[in-house]
Amino acid sequence: MVEAVLIDLFSLPANLQNNIPGLLLNTLETIEKCSSIPAPFVYVMCCQRQENGEQESLLPALRNLQSLKKRLQVVHALTTAAALYTIKQRLDEKDLSIIKVILPTLRKDLVKVYIDHLFTAVYQFEFEDLQVASDCKNLQIAEPRSEEQMVPTQDVAVILSEIQMYLESLPSLNGELTILRSSLIPDDIFLHGFTTRTGGISYIPTLSSCNLFSSSKRRDPQVVVKENLRRIAKAAGFNPETFHRVKTDHANAVCITGKTEPDSYDGIVTNQKGVTIAAPGADCIPVLFADPVRKACGAAHSGWKGTLLGVSMATVNAMVSEYGCNVKDILVVLGPSVGPCCYKLPHESAKEFHQIDPKCVRLFDSACPYIDIRRATRILLENGGILPENIRDDSVTDQNQNVTFCTACHPDKFYSHFRDGNNFGTQIGFISIRD
Ligand SMILES: *[C@@H]1O[C@H](CO)[C@@H](O)[C@H](O)[C@H]1NC(C)=O
Repeated sequence: MVEAVLIDLFSLPANLQNNIPGLLLNTLETIEKCSSIPAPFVYVMCCQRQENGEQESLLPALRNLQSLKKRLQVVHALTTAAALYTIKQRLDEKDLSIIKVILPTLRKDLVKVYIDHLFTAVYQFEFEDLQVASDCKNLQIAEPRSEEQMVPTQDVAVILSEIQMYLESLPSLNGELTILRSSLIPDDIFLHGFTTRTGGISYIPTLSSCNLFSSSKRRDPQVVVKENLRRIAKAAGFNPETFHRVKTDHANAVCITGKTEPDSYDGIVTNQKGVTIAAPGADCIPVLFADPVRKACGAAHSGWKGTLLGVSMATVNAMVSEYGCNVKDILVVLGPSVGPCCYKLPHESAKEFHQIDPKCVRLFDSACPYIDIRRATRILLENGGILPENIRDDSVTDQNQNVTFCTACHPDKFYSHFRDGNNFGTQIGFISIRD
């Protein structure tokens, strides 16, 4: 069932520009007549230059359309990217996702490119042609006539850069961009940080505002995540073009930069200067590794499964075998993650943490005991030869050095899967070797 109708009047032929209200009224009447649902939300996108006066002259005409007029919004913008993104925000406010797009045949392939980049698989689009009748006064809606055409690569590039420039122009939401750093990692050799959720452009409540992961199941498209990352990179001083994030799988494979990339991996290591490697977390621990002696670094994504599978030690081992690091030189920082105050797992999984150390589990006899994935990570690292004082986690008493905040306890600062449900956003930990 169509939940919203989008009419694209962005680039009508010049001879029709003067009669937009008339054409629109005519189109709306047609929608009203043939729509199976009573008055879905209708959005009309128009080019900015038509703004002055047009909307007012439109309104009397719309009086006749009793049911539609409350649900009709005309969006004027300078570019198609701006108009579509504005409409996306209105759709998202109402949680709408099934959209019928009515547009001139010639615009269809182009608009599809915009839609592919600005929306995700959460949304479903259907298209109908808007045709100009032979008397040039009416618009008609018709089944799509033409076969889909490939948009030339250079046109796609122009569209992408229009989208990118528009997103770059948007203000930061929910406060300043904030990056947490640990004093353990020497700043003259490494550039590193843990992101928080403020200062990006994601506007959907659970993703707001510095979401750094795009999924086909969520409403933030890649281009928005890319813009958030661009802002982080600018603030932190790294190059987003040489940014390499783990492809999470909740297991313990490790990618060595410059070598064959595994299909998925939760750890990554590098000794290449200027390559920024990163691991996400939204309760799971983003763990950063730095060896100032051999000048190598690593990042790991350690949720409860990855922790049990030893992803942190797998990352350490890769640094040792690939770059000749000495375990005793490796510094490890555990980033913001769900704390033992909040995190519970079913008894079966709790048992495995209990085996690592009974101190990793609280209320072990209950159905859903509390789990300390950070402590388990520390114990496994210490067992592997990492010096206890070379690990920074929530046991660090100095509040200025303690970056291991609980993600679930701080909804204003961090995303949390556990707290926010399936539509959760993601922060990252990142590190690189300075040039
Ligand atoms: C470190 O910070 C976390 C998060 O604020 C807190 O839960 C923990 O108690 C702190 N550790 C110490 C030893 O103060």
